[in-house]
Amino acid sequence: MGAGYTAPMQDRPTDPTLKLLLEALALAPDNAPLRMHVATAMEKAAQPRDALSHFERLLGDRALGDDAGLGAARCALSLGELDRALGFVNAVLTSVPEHAMGLLLRARVHERRNEHRDARRDYERAVQLDPELADTKLWDALLPSREEPDGAVGKEAETGPREGVTFADVGGLDDVKERIRMRIVLPFQKPDLFAAFGKKGGGGMLFYGPPGCGKTFLARATAGECGAHFVSVGLHEVLDMWIGNSERQLHAIFEDARRRAPTVLFFDEVDALGMQRAKLVTGAMRGVITQFLAELDGFASRNEKVLVLGATNTPWDVDSAFRRPGRFSQVLFVPPPDRPGRAQILKLKLAEKPQGPMDFLRLAEVTEGWSGADLENLIDAAAESAIGKSLASGKVEPITMPMLEAARARLRPSTREWFGTIRNHVQFANESGQYDEAADYMRRHNLM
Ligand SMILES: Nc1ncnc2c1ncn2[C@@H]1O[C@H](COP(=O)(O)OP(=O)(O)OP(=O)(O)O)[C@@H](O)[C@H]1O
Ligand SMILES: [Mg+2]
Repeated sequence: MGAGYTAPMQDRPTDPTLKLLLEALALAPDNAPLRMHVATAMEKAAQPRDALSHFERLLGDRALGDDAGLGAARCALSLGELDRALGFVNAVLTSVPEHAMGLLLRARVHERRNEHRDARRDYERAVQLDPELADTKLWDALLPSREEPDGAVGKEAETGPREGVTFADVGGLDDVKERIRMRIVLPFQKPDLFAAFGKKGGGGMLFYGPPGCGKTFLARATAGECGAHFVSVGLHEVLDMWIGNSERQLHAIFEDARRRAPTVLFFDEVDALGMQRAKLVTGAMRGVITQFLAELDGFASRNEKVLVLGATNTPWDVDSAFRRPGRFSQVLFVPPPDRPGRAQILKLKLAEKPQGPMDFLRLAEVTEGWSGADLENLIDAAAESAIGKSLASGKVEPITMPMLEAARARLRPSTREWFGTIRNHVQFANESGQYDEAADYMRRHNLM
């Protein structure tokens, strides 16, 4: 961590106390409490960028962890770097889940990210733990407003066109990315060109595949490629809330997406609707599904700058009505990463961490069948060893190949089970060829 740190020599502190503190720190750079002092003083002096670099240095040195983590999160928040802020505060809450200040801070971060439901949950817990933390202004901002019920229902995350990930952050999956680019991104960006060749826009794409292989991540990256807002709707959550006035809420989510266009509207766990339909008991649920399909059809005909994507682990639970033209008419298999893909994912995920010499191809060779999420776990496990070693030695120890190999021997890949489940569907329920891509993958990998 210390490597990426640039000493804020250029600071021109106007505050004389701060100037003194900085001079002292230059003489004793390893004095963690002093650096904490400096960081806090800078934060107070409205220099969040410099303060953040000191907090990060403390984190890198594993000194004053929680306080440094919260300081870093506060600074990132005030800089508007919301993903980073969330990362910092989550790290604190992972080590101390009931950290009241941490929860309050995370509530603020969620509020800024328009994730009001998460914000309310964190805020309520924080105040339960420490009533002194009550902040009526924040709470008012979190109360469902006139506009919010539509926006907030079941919505997980939302990013502006400039933030967020793109295909460059997705390791491997070159074919998948190319297909999305041709079938989705380009028609979205150049509808007129496609229309000239008789290709209609509209119609969403449904991603399916084993867990942890990047369906959700790809949807977010697709929004990044399109330069569009990303709105993610977790259908399981939404459906719970919807017994009652559901259609209106669903319509509001679509309307909201239209208003913010260009938007990628992403429905995670689309199978939730299919399953509910199979178990259909109430007329109310039928109404929701009808409404959902009508909204999709509306998009197809109006050709608006809203792209609808969906993802599922269990495509066989998704009702065939969803796959008609103009709805989720395109189905795309998102496979586990291949060897070069795994090497790239490992490289991407290790990029920000202290590391020794790496042989990514060798690691990729011994992780056949590992998902992106599995590879992330592998790195986490190795990072824990490095942290343990650092604590023992008192300096930052990098992640090494032997640490990764040891972690690999302990962990198991998670995609096999899924292929076990889909096998029957591929063999006996693939009349329309919807699982051809999965079948092809399974044949090539001796999974059938
Ligand atoms: N190809 C990839 N490149 C980079 N990161 C990846 C890739 N695949 C997965 N990941 C990482 O793994 C995490 C989990 O992936 P993601 O949530 O997108 O999987 P998923 O297919 O949606 O899984 P699920 O079916 O469980 O919802 C992501 O947050 C991402 O960091
Ligand atoms: Mg997912």
